[in-house]
Amino acid sequence: MPDLGRGQSRITIVSMKVALGVSGGIAAYKAAELVRLLQDHGVRVQVIMTRAAQEFVRPLTFAALSGEKVITDLFGEGAQEPNIESAVEHIAVAQTIDALVVAPATADIIAKFANGLAGDFLSTLFVATTAPVVVAPAMNVNMWENTATQENIQKLRARGVHVVEPDSGYLACGMVGAGRLAANETIVKAVLEALGAVQDLTGETVLITAGPTREPIDPVRYIGNRSSGKMGFALAEAALRRGAKVVLVSGPTALKPPSAAEVIQVQTAREMRDAVFANLERATVVIKAAAVADFTVKNCSDTKIKRSGALQLELEPTPDILKEVAAHKGHRIVVGFAAETHDTLENARKKLQSKSLDAIVLNDVSQPGIGFDSERNAVTILTATESIEVPEMSKWEVAHRVLDVIVKSRAQRGVSAR
Ligand SMILES: Cc1cc2nc3c(=O)[nH]c(=O)nc-3n(C[C@H](O)[C@H](O)[C@H](O)COP(=O)(O)O)c2cc1C
Repeated sequence: MPDLGRGQSRITIVSMKVALGVSGGIAAYKAAELVRLLQDHGVRVQVIMTRAAQEFVRPLTFAALSGEKVITDLFGEGAQEPNIESAVEHIAVAQTIDALVVAPATADIIAKFANGLAGDFLSTLFVATTAPVVVAPAMNVNMWENTATQENIQKLRARGVHVVEPDSGYLACGMVGAGRLAANETIVKAVLEALGAVQDLTGETVLITAGPTREPIDPVRYIGNRSSGKMGFALAEAALRRGAKVVLVSGPTALKPPSAAEVIQVQTAREMRDAVFANLERATVVIKAAAVADFTVKNCSDTKIKRSGALQLELEPTPDILKEVAAHKGHRIVVGFAAETHDTLENARKKLQSKSLDAIVLNDVSQPGIGFDSERNAVTILTATESIEVPEMSKWEVAHRVLDVIVKSRAQRGVSAR
């Protein structure tokens, strides 16, 4: 039985159906155990094998384990049937599954997915389904690091596919490096996340701040920052999926908030502070992902300032929301974010201690392609006892890693939010 490391080892999902695509790599045999582990969570598994996969493991193995006919061909038995519904099997499967997981995913199937090719059952299903997709690559280290493979992976991630990073170590080909299929428990966890089936935040009320703040200079101008709000919104969505109630205090963003969240829109750091304190009492977890202005304009003008030479702005510090929250912490779990460009670890650790945080998520915003206004992020999560490196991945996946730390902190403290 898999231990999901979140204080609960098994989640039973009633009548969820997952399509498990097995493509042609040495690790195909590991997918047999994956069938069992998914079934342990009450998931029905429909196995689809590529032609190459059938060179490694016989369909009979998966048929016996899953209790379902294994789909091995786009033009298989179904196509011979006069009944059109069963003849168009890839569409029928596409419409009835709650998630598609491909493990192991070869370089070839990843390339097909990234380029919209639909020449066999599995790739056609990928194009046809709107269900969440989880891909667990496994291949030789050079194949994994090949530019084409990496570009294909980036494309899939950008389109919302959950990629379960391969592990590093000894590979079947005799080489050492990244490319080994991730542990089945890790893949199961990703599938459960995609299904919205991990309910380890039930009973928690998570107060999340997101986005930038705007400090007015005059009625039309403001001091802002580059935060898009994507990280905070991903945290809100992920926390909702994991069973929490979510209060999202958001600065101005172009994003659509999750419909199940209670959303409070604010503009300035002062408004954000007031919204946080108006909702702090009922919060059991506080995540401060917003990029709050450190300074506001003291001599803000009521009328539009005309251009006439140099303009002097007098700035004064905004309220330190995190520090104030820490002073009213109680049993709450409080997580801060630190966007740093230099002395990153040292600064983050200072903030962790000085603001009595349970964890701080360090964003090194000097790195290109991640952090501000990006779909992706790479962070270090610091707690009093741990430093967890989260490599570059989608903000959705980073959000889940942050929530994992919160669940762990809650379990360690032994204090229930309920
Ligand atoms: C012995 C052997 C092992 C292989 N292992 C892998 C592998 O681990 N990962 C991979 O991407 N391709 C591997 N390949 C290559 C794939 O089988 C090949 O690219 C095939 O066309 C994949 O087809 P599919 O993606 O439709 O399953 C291997 C080939 C052989 C002969």
